[in-house]
Amino acid sequence: MKKKILDLIKKKNKKKIVSLTAYSKNIASILDNYCDIVLVGDSLGSVLYSYKSTREVSLDMMIEHSKSVRMGIKKALMVVDMPHNTYRNSKEALKNAKLIMKKTKCHGVKLEGGKKIYETVKILVKNKIPVMGHLGLLPQSDKTFKFKGQKKSERDNILKDSQLLEKAGVFSIVLECVETSLAKLVTKGLKIPTIGIGASKYCDGQILVFDDLIGLNPMKYRFVKKYINIRNEISKAVLNYSKEVRKIKFPNKKNSY
Ligand code: KIV
Repeated sequence: MKKKILDLIKKKNKKKIVSLTAYSKNIASILDNYCDIVLVGDSLGSVLYSYKSTREVSLDMMIEHSKSVRMGIKKALMVVDMPHNTYRNSKEALKNAKLIMKKTKCHGVKLEGGKKIYETVKILVKNKIPVMGHLGLLPQSDKTFKFKGQKKSERDNILKDSQLLEKAGVFSIVLECVETSLAKLVTKGLKIPTIGIGASKYCDGQILVFDDLIGLNPMKYRFVKKYINIRNEISKAVLNYSKEVRKIKFPNKKNSY
């Protein structure tokens, strides 16, 4: 595990880090061939369960989806999001992070926030739990869902928080919806890699929600590029299947015992 994390950190300034989210085994087993990091994101709350926010995601949900993802992972670093209200203080965070690590056999956990979680991160790291940070737009607490870095105070805080998280021992930081010049500044100021989502090409790596990349999610976001419209492909396949069943073409002799 330590080696995987050190190898990831070594990629900074050398090779871009590729990352995607997965919520289940079959998808994870495909992503594992191409990704450095597979994240079981609490975005599963909105993507799979249509929750209004990730705040409704429970620890049990994260653990069950992560157990499925784990079965598809052989090479990549697997990180699991700690959901809302599972790291309100260091004691709670340590108990829940240990449970996630034990039940899912993941390689690390991700927590949202900066100064507020500094002591917590230090304690997790001291207990040999690798931690990934998350700054910029923080879906577990954000009210506006606007990109970050327009106001000077916001810029200063994100910059300071990134330094604090590094000091606390995180192995990398996700920067979500961060203005380009700020993402560049944060990335330059750190020894650990930054992983951007809506945070420009200047981050050390990139992450997207997999359902967005394949066009399964019909929503459109500026920071997403759809590499395939999988909804169309699925529609075509299901249409063919429905036609064949109705015309008694499927199942045929070959599909029967
Ligand atoms: O929950 C998630 O999927 C995430 C990524 C968008 C970084 O945190």
